[in-house]
Amino acid sequence: MSSQPHKASFFSHETIEKNVGWLIAATIAVVSIAGLIEIVPLFFQHSTTAPVAGVEPYTALRLAGRDIYIREGCVGCHSQQVRTLQAEVQRYGHYSMAGEGVYDRPFLWGSKRTGPDLARVGGRYSDAWHHIHLHNPRDVVPESNMPAYPWLRETPVERGDIRARMHALRTLGVPYTDADIEAAPGELAGKTEEDALVAYLQGLGMAVMK
Ligand code: HEC
Repeated sequence: MSSQPHKASFFSHETIEKNVGWLIAATIAVVSIAGLIEIVPLFFQHSTTAPVAGVEPYTALRLAGRDIYIREGCVGCHSQQVRTLQAEVQRYGHYSMAGEGVYDRPFLWGSKRTGPDLARVGGRYSDAWHHIHLHNPRDVVPESNMPAYPWLRETPVERGDIRARMHALRTLGVPYTDADIEAAPGELAGKTEEDALVAYLQGLGMAVMK
């Protein structure tokens, strides 16, 4: 047998393994089909696009706070996704659901936890605690290595573009009414960036924890 020249049939593994062109073509075919099977059902699965009961669009103040959270890079140290693991659920509360993030553009799930997950931090501390903590974390948690954000207290929250930001989100499907948008700058009047950020933090996860 072994003395005879070996002639593999075209439809064999050998064709793919010895010919990089066929290997690439076959890999692309398999990955595309598998990808479609994973992705296409998501277009029809409303649990990922419908808000969980109780989840409301951000108020103007919380929206401004969220933008400060993004600007200050809090997501670099804090995730906002409780995973479906027992240890996480016991520590933070109900695991995160897709429908909680429908008004988050962009989402802030994060992937780094130098500090604790914040998806359910709303209501865990008083407003006063957050104000002190943001101003200097060491005043309430002596061993903390979180940076201090003292400028937030001195900076009035930006009011000039809040309507434009809410309009942009409405274009993307967030159900703000004309009245919400009209009233937005008034809601921010006299508020500091710290006030806005605390309002944002105090609402995190509240729809599910109520
Ligand atoms: C360099 C990493 C780092 C950055 C950046 C950071 N934090 Fe923290 N954060 C921590 C650590 C560590 C803790 C735990 C110690 C403590 O409570 O201060 C913490 C704790 C917290 C807590 C209390 C959470 C709990 O459940 O006890 C809140 C709220 C918080 N951070 C908000 C923020 C916000 C808002 C920002 C952005 C303005 C921010 N953090 C930026 C590291 C960070």
